[in-house]
Amino acid sequence: MTRKNLIVGNWKMHATHLEAIQMTQKLHYRLDPKDFDRVDVGLAPPFTALRSVQTVIEADHMQFSLGAQNVHWEEKGAFTGEIAPGMLAKLNVRYVIVGHSERRQIFGETDEWIAKKVKAVLAHDMIPILCVGETLDEREAGGAMEKVERQVLADFEGLSADQVGTATIAYEPIWAIGTGRTAKPEDAQEVIGFIRDLLRRKWGDVAEETRILYGGSVNPGNIAAIMAKKDIDGALVGGASLDPDTFASVVRYWI
Ligand code: 13P
Repeated sequence: MTRKNLIVGNWKMHATHLEAIQMTQKLHYRLDPKDFDRVDVGLAPPFTALRSVQTVIEADHMQFSLGAQNVHWEEKGAFTGEIAPGMLAKLNVRYVIVGHSERRQIFGETDEWIAKKVKAVLAHDMIPILCVGETLDEREAGGAMEKVERQVLADFEGLSADQVGTATIAYEPIWAIGTGRTAKPEDAQEVIGFIRDLLRRKWGDVAEETRILYGGSVNPGNIAAIMAKKDIDGALVGGASLDPDTFASVVRYWI
């Protein structure tokens, strides 16, 4: 098994480009170069800060990878307010979060769009982080697995096995996002193990290469127990990624 752990900070709609530069520099000082032997670290600032964070990372030879929070699937055109995949690739963006529940719920993104976004990201040699997860009502009705299965199959529709191996999935139960209510590590493992089985049934052994992250109220106090689970390869971190001290403690989850 060759999966390397991955922890990504999703800064959502926080940080001007000046604040983002500071956050990146502070986080860099709080980490040891050896930390990156154990974990890949991605930073997903708002679009307006991508160029600044890229410049800081490259000028100081930092080991962070750049992430974007969304993308459009078309190459160019009359799509006011949208950002094309080629524009992100030119900024050395490595990870693109696709289908976050906030985009699905607040902005009405459909599985059909999300599937196009996943393909567009892969076509530009970037790595999609596909977000899936159930609402509290769906969990209480016993429908968590059914929901994530439907999302994964719809959003990865038409991908080759190699593409599935390259892609990353983040299981983010909606009731755990920004609520301080984390999924129990065994519950997160149960769903993530189910997703890996699903990938194996549909795409074969490449399922062992797909990184699957957990997201939802991850913090320095709960990250170690989450990372200890066998199918969980990392975390997508919202609130706790905004403070460099806190995020450094999440990244160094083994200390
Ligand atoms: P919180 O870590 O703030 O719960 O957010 C999780 C999330 O949505 C990451 O994408």
